[in-house]
Formats: sequence, C-alpha cells, structure tokens
Amino acid sequence: MVTEIKHPLIQHKLTLMRKKETPTKDFRELLDEIAMLMVYEVTRDFPLKEIEIETPVAKCKSNVIVDKNIVIVPILRAGLGMTNGLLKMFPNASVGHIGLYRDPKTLQPVEYYCKMPSDMDKRTLIVVDPMLATGGSSSAALTLLKNKGAKKIILMCLVAAPKGIEVVTNDHSDIPVYVAAIDEKLNDHAYIIPGLGDAGDRIFGTF
Ligand code: PRP
Ligand code: URA
Repeated sequence: MVTEIKHPLIQHKLTLMRKKETPTKDFRELLDEIAMLMVYEVTRDFPLKEIEIETPVAKCKSNVIVDKNIVIVPILRAGLGMTNGLLKMFPNASVGHIGLYRDPKTLQPVEYYCKMPSDMDKRTLIVVDPMLATGGSSSAALTLLKNKGAKKIILMCLVAAPKGIEVVTNDHSDIPVYVAAIDEKLNDHAYIIPGLGDAGDRIFGTF
C-alpha cells in the first residue's frame, strides 16, 4: 500500500528543497508545486461521475471528479505547506485541521487541535504532512480520523523514513500511503537522514 512517486519533476524539486541554502520562499513554493504533482498519482483511481454538458458544437456526456466530497487534512503545522497545492486541484474540497506536535523528549505526538467537517463516513480524506519520521504523528492522525468515522483515507507525505513507513503500515494496513522519497534512516533526535531538516521551521521561517 506504499507508493513512492519517483517522477523526475518531483525528484528535481525535492532536491532543491533538501538544500540547506534554499530560502523559505523557495522552499514553500517548491512544496506547493510538489503537492500538486503528487496529486496526479494519488487520484489515478478516483471515481468519476458522468455529467451532461454542451460544448460550443454539441451536447455530450463527460466525466468529472466530485471534489466537494474530498477533505484535505493537513497535520499542523507543516501539513499546511501542502494544502494549497491540493486546493488548486480540488477547489471545492473542504479542509479539516489536525494539530499535533511531536514532544521533543518523548517523541510522542501531542494533540492540540482538531476541526473536521460533518459526514466523515461519506468523504474521501487526503491527510498531508511533509515528514513521516517515527510515524507517530501520522499514525495518531489516522487513528483520530477513523474514530471520527472516516472510512476512506489516503496519507500523502513528502519524505519518509523506513521506520515511519513500518509504523504506519503496521498500525493502518488499510490506508494507502504516497511519498516522494524514502530516505535512509532517522538520527538520534528522530530527524530524517538525509531529509530536509525541520519542515515546519523551513516553511514558516521559525529558526
Ligand atoms: C513534524 C512533521 C510531522 C512530524 C513527523 O512536525 O511535520 O508532523 O514532525 O514526525 P514523526 O513521524 O516522528 O511523528 P512537528 O512535530 O515538528 O510540528 P510542526 O509541524 O508544528 O513543526
Ligand atoms: N520532523 C521534521 O520536520 N523533520 C524531520 O526530519 C523529522 C520530523
């Protein structure tokens, strides 16, 4: 259930993001662009609805994605950096927010905010977070959403560590996971190596 999207455009932009000298503005723009590109693969099997339309020359039936059923769920803060890229593709989607931070000592996720739309069982949720390190934050977010009734969830991350993939796929074997890269390992502070540093700090300039 794990797909590593190795498209050259995504790899190119991710390399630019990884470079330590890449400034905040460029980092944010690159993340936005990669999020948009990843959606192309994530939505490959999305259901279509046939509607009747009229072109300038004829009536016909044609397919659309019913995007008002889609909920984009950024894990705060860093997930916010991927949200606009998805909203450009699904302008009618809802956005639900999950506030989680990783306690620097215990590395356990701490929940501080959650606001979701109603009818969670009828919607398709795309959970976004650039970093999947120990997997604690993403796994906790998926559990929280399932407890709120969500039935169809996709997890979309930028960079993953093997440990994070292992934890999420063990805890949630039913959830498809899309990543742009699976890196080598975690360091002693559970940062992804080589990774790109602290995604939230690089998006929001909080160094
Ligand atoms: C980062 C990142 C993930 C989490 C990944 O968030 O955006 O949510 O760490 O680590 P994990 O897989 O080990 O749980 P952080 O806690 O730094 O919060 P922030 O987005 O507010 O900076
Ligand atoms: N969170 C980040 O922002 N980066 C990492 O490498 C690990 C967790």
